[in-house]
Amino acid sequence: MNDVRISQALSVTLHDYHPRTAEMREEILDGLRAQQKTLPCKYFYDDRGSRLFDVICELPEYYLTRTELGIMEVSATDMAASLGARVRLVEPGSGSSLKTRLLLDHLVRPSAYVPVDISRAHLVTTADCLNQVYPELEVLPVCADFSQSFAIPAPRRTAQRTVIYFPGSTIGNFEPAAAMELLKRLRRLAGPNGALLIGVDLRKDEAVLQRAYSDTAGVTAEFNLNILRRINRELHADFNLNGFRHRAVYNSAAGRIEMHLVSCDNQLVRLAGDSFSFLEDEAIVTEYSYKHTLAGFKVLAAKAGLQVEKVWTDDRRWFSVQYLTAA
Ligand code: AVJ
Repeated sequence: MNDVRISQALSVTLHDYHPRTAEMREEILDGLRAQQKTLPCKYFYDDRGSRLFDVICELPEYYLTRTELGIMEVSATDMAASLGARVRLVEPGSGSSLKTRLLLDHLVRPSAYVPVDISRAHLVTTADCLNQVYPELEVLPVCADFSQSFAIPAPRRTAQRTVIYFPGSTIGNFEPAAAMELLKRLRRLAGPNGALLIGVDLRKDEAVLQRAYSDTAGVTAEFNLNILRRINRELHADFNLNGFRHRAVYNSAAGRIEMHLVSCDNQLVRLAGDSFSFLEDEAIVTEYSYKHTLAGFKVLAAKAGLQVEKVWTDDRRWFSVQYLTAA
């Protein structure tokens, strides 16, 4: 496990597993050296990327956030009842903790809230804000890449159980085998009496999916291109931001949206003493966003040792929030 640095930031104590630049460089180089070039989508979320993602969540075409919030508004009381009293709530990839507040408003005497995010500044501001809004709640932010190991800090008040809250269909970013491994790891993290409350996006009309990832305002394109801007800044690369364009396609065989950055020309990009050549129309895969069926997700959960106890969904069955316990 990485070392943890503990620091006081605003009104909260931060547990910092500080993903290192060297690690990011290696992952990015690996992706660019592959036959099919890829970039890990977790690197979208620097400060600017986190802010752009918040704008995406409000776009008319991006149904995910709105639909999940609607489900939370209707069923948070019911969810809180399933989770029980004195929960330690852990949220991997917490971002702005938008949906969490709906849940926190209904939880019975929660013992602590542990937001886990890779974007340090964004995490600290959000945690500080929650600390003000919920003075009774102990907020324990952890800066970490949740796809790697980190420890959950112990709250002052002992918890009845640990519940991993994983909304937003972040699980959709993982290919089936990796999704299964992640679910397994989250199950272990929650412990023997633990549970998961997870948001899972569902299959639907392709045109709806297509629009959600190619909005007319071009925010998703900015978000996608931001990864190149970040690599330029942090790893001193020389990607020409006008030399790549955003593309989102639905791969119906795999049941996933694929986000690409497509090279507009034949070009050469320099990064960390290496150079990478791109052909005109060659694509870098930057993100997969899987859309599940309820039956398919149940099988995936079972493979990770998790049982689907309860499913909440919207009228159109576009999105689901699922309560899973150790099988
Ligand atoms: C936060 C991973 C769920 O896949 O829909 C939004 C990220 N990418 N628009 C998603 C995203 C493009 C989002 N997740």
